[in-house]
Amino acid sequence: MASDFRMPGNVKFGVGAHKNLPEEIEKYSPTKIAIVSDKGVANAGLVKKLENILEQTGVPIFTFTEIVGEPTFKLVETVTHKLREENCDLVIGIGGGSALDVAKTAAALLAQEKIAHFLSGREQIGPRSTPCILLPTTSGTGSEVTMNAIFGDEEQGLKRGIVSPALLPDLAIIDPELTVSCPARVSASSGVDAFTHAIESYISVRGTPLTKIFAEKAMRLFPKYITRAVHNGTDLESRTGMAWVSALAGVSLANAGVGAVHALAYPLGGKFHIEHGVANALLMPYVFEKIGKTCTDELVEVASFLQLGDYSQHPNKALDAVVHYLLELLDTLNLPSTLKELGIPEDSLPALAESASKVDRLLANTPYKLTEEAIKEIYENAYFGKVGVLVK
Ligand SMILES: NC(=O)c1ccc[n+]([C@@H]2O[C@H](COP(=O)([O-])OP(=O)(O)OC[C@H]3O[C@@H](n4cnc5c(N)ncnc54)[C@H](O)[C@@H]3O)[C@@H](O)[C@H]2O)c1
Repeated sequence: MASDFRMPGNVKFGVGAHKNLPEEIEKYSPTKIAIVSDKGVANAGLVKKLENILEQTGVPIFTFTEIVGEPTFKLVETVTHKLREENCDLVIGIGGGSALDVAKTAAALLAQEKIAHFLSGREQIGPRSTPCILLPTTSGTGSEVTMNAIFGDEEQGLKRGIVSPALLPDLAIIDPELTVSCPARVSASSGVDAFTHAIESYISVRGTPLTKIFAEKAMRLFPKYITRAVHNGTDLESRTGMAWVSALAGVSLANAGVGAVHALAYPLGGKFHIEHGVANALLMPYVFEKIGKTCTDELVEVASFLQLGDYSQHPNKALDAVVHYLLELLDTLNLPSTLKELGIPEDSLPALAESASKVDRLLANTPYKLTEEAIKEIYENAYFGKVGVLVK
């Protein structure tokens, strides 16, 4: 089967890169610019920073910052109508994955009639006619380089992804300076989320030598920078390292897909509003404990990328080493390690398993067929903090 490999038209990377925006937007000759962001990013002063820079262009700006928490399909529809009413013809998204997913989806839907059809997944969106520029402020979801967007489906109590090349921006401006104000907890959860993208896409059945180059580099850089970036947010070198991790892992995720960790995280986000990165970080050790035996060779490589040791002579031990590393990471970064800690009711685990077992699009990428029963077992282990390969 043939595989595609897609990235945004241009990725501009560097400290201070956001200051190039005026030259960049000239290429599109916009008559009205939409800035899409969220409340937290606006409160950190980042939206004002962009507005000040864009003022030099003289192009009118409409700013939307009413995103609070992780976005829903309903919100995307509202934002799309708003940008259409305002006649915006260039969309700039600035923020974490929440703001970027809304910005790029609204840009793709601006010229489309049947918004609900695309959002329900009945039809693929595209092609996009409104130019779109994305600037991430977390490291991160990699949304600025992916053709995916994830939204809460309030009716079904689930999160659901939509995928279309129309969701790749024309330009991603990755400026580590914009992540300096990112709070420690978000730096930790979104940083481990990026690692989840790298490891899940690395073992994905859709992975190719090309996607693995990106995932491998992300995993090699991750342990050098994650702790520093979380505990010393103003350290620009580690913020830059994590910005690369996020972008590299995002490219791999966009082309190879993620798997069971994400599938199990979706109902936690949809039903209990657990942040995406927190849910992924917490579930990752428990999911890998269950599926790891089917990707032993890859885990020997992952252990080597993370500098955990050479397990080539003892491949079965690589799984223990990786799971142990992931659990320690939660501790070092002050992230929760059990569902109990998060206040998830124990009697909700069967319903969570039923929901997760329906996320076929992602479960199909994992090299192990997880039954609903096996998924329930993973949630139970994650609830009590039970890890079988090692004693925690
Ligand atoms: N499109 C994709 O490929 C993809 C991949 C993974 C996750 N996601 C989605 O992304 C969302 C999660 O994104 P996230 O982890 O980046 O977090 P986020 O965008 O939800 O942001 C979390 C919080 O951090 C604040 N924040 C972000 N950057 C900041 C900064 N520099 N300074 C101060 N505050 C800042 C935000 O205001 C928000 O309150 C979820 O909805 C998830 O489903 C998308």
